[in-house]
Formats: sequence, structure tokens, C-alpha cells
Amino acid sequence: MLDISFAKSALPKSGAVVILAGEGALGGLAAELDTAMQGGLARALEAAGFKGRAGQSAALWAPLPGLTKVLVLGTGPTLDAEKLGGGLVPQLSKEAECTVLADALSAGQAASLAMGATLRSYRFDRYRTTEKAEDKPKLKKLSIATADASAAKAAFAPMKAVAQGVFLTRDLVSEPANILNPAEFADRCKELTKLGLDVDVLGPKEMKKLGFGALLGVAQGSANEPRMVVMRWNGLSGGKKKADKPVCFIGKGVTFDTGGISIKPAGGMEDMKWDMAGAGTVTGLMAALAGRKAKVDAVGIIGLVENMPGDNAQRPGDVVTSASGQTIEVINTDAEGRLVLADVIHYAIEKFDPKFMVDLATLTGAIIIALGHEHAGLFSNDDELAARIAAAGVSTGELAWRMPLGDAYDKQIKSDIADMKNVGGRPGGSITAAQFIQRFVQGKPWAHLDIAGTAWSGKDTATVPKGATAYGVRLLDRLVAEHYEG
Ligand code: BES
Ligand code: MN
Ligand code: ZN
Repeated sequence: MLDISFAKSALPKSGAVVILAGEGALGGLAAELDTAMQGGLARALEAAGFKGRAGQSAALWAPLPGLTKVLVLGTGPTLDAEKLGGGLVPQLSKEAECTVLADALSAGQAASLAMGATLRSYRFDRYRTTEKAEDKPKLKKLSIATADASAAKAAFAPMKAVAQGVFLTRDLVSEPANILNPAEFADRCKELTKLGLDVDVLGPKEMKKLGFGALLGVAQGSANEPRMVVMRWNGLSGGKKKADKPVCFIGKGVTFDTGGISIKPAGGMEDMKWDMAGAGTVTGLMAALAGRKAKVDAVGIIGLVENMPGDNAQRPGDVVTSASGQTIEVINTDAEGRLVLADVIHYAIEKFDPKFMVDLATLTGAIIIALGHEHAGLFSNDDELAARIAAAGVSTGELAWRMPLGDAYDKQIKSDIADMKNVGGRPGGSITAAQFIQRFVQGKPWAHLDIAGTAWSGKDTATVPKGATAYGVRLLDRLVAEHYEG
């Protein structure tokens, strides 16, 4: 992770310098630098046609002895500190140390800038063994010169914990499936006990006892055993406050989804290594809540399986009995995520009686057809919870769009032989998947986020490099912070 420090407002003597400039004349530390350069900075910006618009930038090399580079970023009329922080990272990949002149920013803005830079600096390079040193990004230290350094540092501390959660999620989601099988995933969750989380791991024996016929049916085609991991953060009751019902987050963790016997086509199948992104997000979220010592009792539960067409795999037409007792006709073994969630959700209700549940799952290709990669699909039986999630999405930039539920959709999953079937045909494919899940929530407050379109990105954005996005960690952390702490 980038090494970020907040220092008092002063020009640095070495390294690179970032200036944030709007439409007007240079002020504060930027004006001081211009003076030291005998007006050369203002002249250069004029010559470059720099107008201070958002997204605009200009660079000067070695303007003074000791300084390697000056990067000037346009702020536009409404400065977005997080975006600016993210935007500077790729432009400084050749610099080891950099100081941002943030003397015009509030402490909160300085912290947001640090957050943006941190989030953008993520890189998964565990398996690059021959990359040349000069090709690797060099930026290691970012110093932020600001009026109230200690206030900025305090504001950044909880953000940094969230960024660490985001990085954990991105690491898990990026990891290939030959490394990250269910057992390995559970082992990585175990490591979170060092943050103060209680972590319990259940294997196939325990799940059999609990009657997890739906989850185990998916797992039985793979040589890699399934796991369920329960992570608890008792930020309220652990602090001796009266225990309340916990909030609960549930994740689909299909460490690889071949489709099973209803096997997927070869093209793009490698993407199914990230079919555990829901579980990865829940894990990073729990790390974030613990890392910033959130005043909440929260439970994260993830169902980890590999969906393979092994010789013991379930067949289309098989009927399985879920932990709730409801029976399911498995028409398509590729609609496996909902089978996993059915048992994990039932367990969550029986064991924890949560205040509400939010499940995250890369559940359907159909949600990508409906919403593209810009919004996750949001389904809920609770208007207040849905509104809070949508609002937290807007404030964190992790957008979610509410989709309908209803009896007419539910009819699509009626079965001729069992209580339900696991697919409802092509029309409204994401909705019938959500209807299936709803049959297991016993009318309790619940929301479902279909993150198939948002868990992975094919392009860089200001704060999210391409690859695993960790969509949902910041959104749900914000949901907790705004409504369920204290
Ligand atoms: N994991 C997939 C959904 C998915 C697709 C995630 C693309 C990310 C990107 C899920 O298990 C699946 O296979 N869904 C099927 C459901 C169908 C068989 C009813 C789908 O969307 O095609
Ligand atoms: Mn599938
Ligand atoms: Zn899947």
C-alpha cells in the first residue's frame, strides 16, 4: 500500500510535486513555487493552454534543483478530491516520492485525496516474476502538505482501514482458482482473527448435519471440498454495550464456475475465477469494519464451493432438499449461486436472527444485459433498506439500481415435481433468480445485490484500476457507518 503522510504546508525540497489548480491565478504554496521558479510555472501553464478544467493536466520536468517533476491537475469549479487523488497516480508512475500541495483543501478533502490515490495504486503482481524494474510503478511515498495535518491524518485513519478491506477483496477476487479453492479461501479468512474478528469454518460434514442439500449438490462435482465461513465482528456487544441484533452480509463464493454438467462455452470461461466476488466482498467488508473498529455487531457468512462437472456431479433434473426443507428441481446446474445462497441464508436466519441481510452475488449474466457495468442490480423486500443502499451507492460511487420483485415473476420458478425449480427461463432472468433467493428469507428484511456486471472492470477508472473492483466494500461500509453504528 502507498505510504501516505500528512505534513504541514511547505514546499518540498526533493521529489515530484503535484499542484491542484482551478481557473484563477495560482495561490498559496503553488504561488510560492511559481515565485521560486521566477514566474516559470505560470508561464508554462499559459503556454500549455492549461485552463484548470477538471481532467486537464500539465507536466514540467526538473523545474528547480532537487525537484524531479511538477504535475498540475485541473480541479474545475467543484473540486473532487478523491478523483484527483486517483488521477495523479498513473501520471507519477516513474516517481518514487511525491508531495501534493493541498494547502487549499480542508482536512476531509486531503484525506479523500489520500483515499483516491491509495485505491488507484492497487496492483496484483504476485505472479509477475520477469517484469523489469523500470516497468514497475515506482511511486511509494505520497506526502500531502495541508493546513491541518493532524486533522487530515485522523480523517484518513478509518478510510485507510476501508482501503485495506478493498485491497483484500481485490487480492481474493484476482487470485486464480487453482490457488484459491474453498479451503484456501477459508484459510485466508482465518487470518482475519488478527483484526479481532471471530472466524469459524464449517466443512462438508457439518454442512451435511445442517441439511445443506442445495449447497452440497453444487459441491459434489468437484474434488475440492466446500466450506462455509462465519466471520463475526462484535463492535458493540464486545464493547459491553447491550447486544442488539447483528447486521448480516452473505456472499456467493463459487471459486470457479464451469457451469457443471450444464457446462459453459469455452470462450471467456476464465472469468469464472471471479465467481466468488460476493464472498470476497463480504470478507473485505468484515476486515474494513474490524479495521476501523466500527461500533456495530456484524456477521459475514460466505458459502464456498467449486462448480465442476466431475463424475459425481449433480445432473439436470436432480431434486435436492435445502436446509430450509424446501425442495428444488435443478434444471440447470449452471444456476448454482442461488443454490449456495439458499442454504447460507437459511443458516444466517436460524443462527443469528439478523436485523437485516444483504447478500452479494455474481448471480446472472442477465443483469449485465439489463444494467451494463455501471450499476449493480438491487432487489429488496424492504423499501427503507433499499433506499439506504441506493443512497450509499451514490455517495461512494458504487451504484446500485433497484429492480422489481413480484408474484408474477415468482410463478416462473414453479416446478412440476418439487417446491421450485432453479431457473425461470430467459425473461427477467435476474429477477427470477432474486425471487428464488427470496423464498429463503422468511419475510425478514433483506436485500440482494447482483454484482455480475460490477465485480470486474475491463478498464481503468480514477480510483479503480482494471480488474477486480471490490464493488460493495465501500458501499456497505458506508451503509453501516450512516445508519447502524453507535
Ligand atoms: N456465475 C454466473 C453468472 C455470471 C455471468 C457472472 C457472467 C459473471 C459474469 C452464474 O452462475 C450463471 O451461470 N448464471 C446463469 C444462469 C442461467 C443458467 C439461468 C447465466 O446467467 O447464464
Ligand atoms: Mn453458473
Ligand atoms: Zn456462478
